[in-house]
Amino acid sequence: MSGKVVGILGATGVVGRQMLECLEERNFDVERLVPLASARSAGKTIGFRGEDIQIVEATPDAFEGIDIVLGAADDATATRLLPEAVKRGAVCVDNSHAFRLDKDVPLVIPEINADDVKWHNGIISNPNCATIIGLVPLWPLHQVAGLKRIIASTYQAASGAGMPGLNELEREMGCVAAGEPVSETAPFAYQLAANLIPQIGGFGEELYTSEELKMGREGRKICHLPELRVNCTCVRVPIMRSHSESITAEFERPITPEEAREALAVAPGVKLVDDPEALRYPMPLETSDQDLIYVGRIRRDMSAPDGVNAITLFCCGDQIRKGAATNAVQIAELL
Ligand SMILES: NC(=O)c1ccc[n+]([C@@H]2O[C@H](COP(=O)([O-])OP(=O)(O)OC[C@H]3O[C@@H](n4cnc5c(N)ncnc54)[C@H](OP(=O)(O)O)[C@@H]3O)[C@@H](O)[C@H]2O)c1
Repeated sequence: MSGKVVGILGATGVVGRQMLECLEERNFDVERLVPLASARSAGKTIGFRGEDIQIVEATPDAFEGIDIVLGAADDATATRLLPEAVKRGAVCVDNSHAFRLDKDVPLVIPEINADDVKWHNGIISNPNCATIIGLVPLWPLHQVAGLKRIIASTYQAASGAGMPGLNELEREMGCVAAGEPVSETAPFAYQLAANLIPQIGGFGEELYTSEELKMGREGRKICHLPELRVNCTCVRVPIMRSHSESITAEFERPITPEEAREALAVAPGVKLVDDPEALRYPMPLETSDQDLIYVGRIRRDMSAPDGVNAITLFCCGDQIRKGAATNAVQIAELL
């Protein structure tokens, strides 16, 4: 196989920089790399395989000659530019929300629905990060017992709001430590350091936020389960990276915690970390900067009425890697 010309739209951001690392680590056959970003970054350089490569302003013509575009920009930029890349012959794997629910666009987690890459028309979407981190460990349980309903609460890291989120939490932590007042600047509505913010995205249907609605809408599409019911609460927490989720899942058929552990112990993309006696359970500090979703605290839902088969678990994963960059590079590998 000959190498590919790979473009990264948004190469200077949190996800874009991670994509560069993932391409290197996974030895993706890159013949030439084209880092694309806004006019603010054009002309600066970025490191890839020990070389400094000049960043190009992302204009429609900048996609000429690129085989694969990995999208790591905001929704508006993706909407404006990725169809231009497709017109010029590229296949795009996009991380924004822009195309995820489009019926002509596959939405893919390779551990779940790798075959869906086959029917793409130039764009394949990467799911929302919290959706990926929740669904990777639920999928093996679905194989055992048939997933019916999910109730999830997420604890989402500051870097989920990109470079501005990461920089803001670092700055605030410095202010709090120094006893200085912190400013009320974007990207969060309130101070995040020493706080929790139970809002990610704008409020929508029945006062769920846009982030909370994604797990259901995207989950039904990825898992090919149109009847899947999801209730999600998303909370921003003062963690640098790695999202965590408390999930109760209800199944068609009976499943015991032991059966769930057995299925998860051999599932791709998952690491079972569930040893209460040894105080071993998933935590974001341990799951940062690696690709597996850690899952533990597996137990029966003691509130479930008779006849309802439900399991409760806790999982954590690096949302910049498996929740974004790694998942996108895995899709590019499938291509
Ligand atoms: N952060 C996460 O954990 C995460 C997880 C899953 C999915 N995502 C999604 O991935 C995408 C990128 O997120 P991020 O967190 O990496 O954001 P980020 O750190 O804010 O980076 C945004 C990137 O987009 C570029 N950009 C902005 N305006 C542009 C324009 N007009 N033309 C071309 N490029 C432009 C920026 O370039 P400049 O540096 O030149 O401004 C930068 O490279 C978003 O759609 C986000 O929702 C993020």
